[in-house]
Amino acid sequence: MWKKTVVVLLTSTLLAPLTWANDPVATRQAEFKKILRAFEPMGMMIRGAKPYQAQPFQQQALALLNSHNTPWQYFPPGSDRGKTRAKAEIWTRAADFQAEQQLFSSRVKALHQASTTQADLATLRARYGEVAQSCKSCHDSFRSKVLP
Ligand code: HEC
Repeated sequence: MWKKTVVVLLTSTLLAPLTWANDPVATRQAEFKKILRAFEPMGMMIRGAKPYQAQPFQQQALALLNSHNTPWQYFPPGSDRGKTRAKAEIWTRAADFQAEQQLFSSRVKALHQASTTQADLATLRARYGEVAQSCKSCHDSFRSKVLP
């Protein structure tokens, strides 16, 4: 009995990460939430909802730099079903989807770069705005407005 419990416990602990990796939709959505959590606090400062502070801004820009490329590996073909807003265009226009990722990446790097070089707020606002444009542009083309 005791042995059986241990085996069951061990098995479920070992299988948990596998289950997670097998659910690309939930995984990529969690990754996008990380991106949002990195991005949004900078927006508060950019919009003046919070006072601008260089150090926290730089930390958020670094968090965005570290998280901005993680979702793309969780878009295997066929994962446009279920609780996802991923459009079929992600796979039928794969080159365009990739181009959006590359532009996004260069803009995220530019924002991070500006945050580390004591750029003025106007410059940070411009770089932040370019990143936000990438979020919107990719969402407009590749994310449906509502869950199916
Ligand atoms: C290259 C394309 C692309 C870029 C760039 C992009 N996203 Fe997304 N995003 C998507 C797609 C596609 C989904 C839908 C994922 C799904 O539902 O499976 C999504 C979903 C999300 C979600 C919802 C996650 C959930 O729980 O359903 C959030 C939040 C999000 N993105 C935030 C952002 C922010 C903030 C940025 C910019 C800083 C951004 N995204 C940039 C393509 C992109």
